[in-house]
Amino acid sequence: MDKITTFPIPLAGYRVEGFVLEDAPRLQPLYIACTDYVMLEQGVPPTPTAAEEEFYALPPNRTAADKFIFGLLNEEANVVGVLECNRGYPEERCWWVGLLMIDPAERGKGVAHAFFQAFVAWVEAQKSARLELAVITTNTRAYRFWQSQGFEVIRTTDPLPYGINQHTLHVMRRWLSTEDS
Ligand SMILES: CC(C)(COP(=O)(O)OP(=O)(O)OC[C@H]1O[C@@H](n2cnc3c(N)ncnc32)[C@H](O)[C@@H]1OP(=O)(O)O)[C@@H](O)C(=O)NCCC(=O)NCCS
Repeated sequence: MDKITTFPIPLAGYRVEGFVLEDAPRLQPLYIACTDYVMLEQGVPPTPTAAEEEFYALPPNRTAADKFIFGLLNEEANVVGVLECNRGYPEERCWWVGLLMIDPAERGKGVAHAFFQAFVAWVEAQKSARLELAVITTNTRAYRFWQSQGFEVIRTTDPLPYGINQHTLHVMRRWLSTEDS
């Protein structure tokens, strides 16, 4: 993961920073603030190492060099959002969005939309053809958000274990606007 990787966001007072493992302590408070989401996914509150573990989680056949964790910082330099993604998964020219998570105090006002659109512009500049992600079928707010960002369901999984929970997931896809896609 490259510390200097970042992208501009057209939202006054916010900036995006590429995070590395050493930034995990700055990210951990966001996991605590987003206990609602961790409970929905895992069925238990965030562990003290939740942020750190995010840096080690890799999809099959991918390395840390293909993984990017972007923090969204507000004017006070507090981390109010995170976007975790993997280049080249599940196939070349596809990026997998592993997580987008916004502080509850910053939800419902277009911050996630601006953060994600800025990310899309950055990925499109790298000639990627599409984005994929998986959303828990009961996470209706996130599902609605991804639809609003142009994603469509391509398949629904069997139940999978998450912490003490089991979830079925909608795998969603969005094509990108690249000259040769
Ligand atoms: C999923 C998540 C990232 C979506 O964030 P969000 O705050 O709902 O999304 P936005 O910031 O784009 O806000 C959208 C809402 O704000 C409203 N809004 C207000 N001003 C807006 C603006 N300038 N631009 C866009 N939307 C705006 C929209 O109408 C929309 O309202 P609605 O939810 O009633 O439809 C967020 O809910 C979250 O972090 N959830 C927990 C983690 C999670 O579930 N992640 C997804 C895992 S797959």
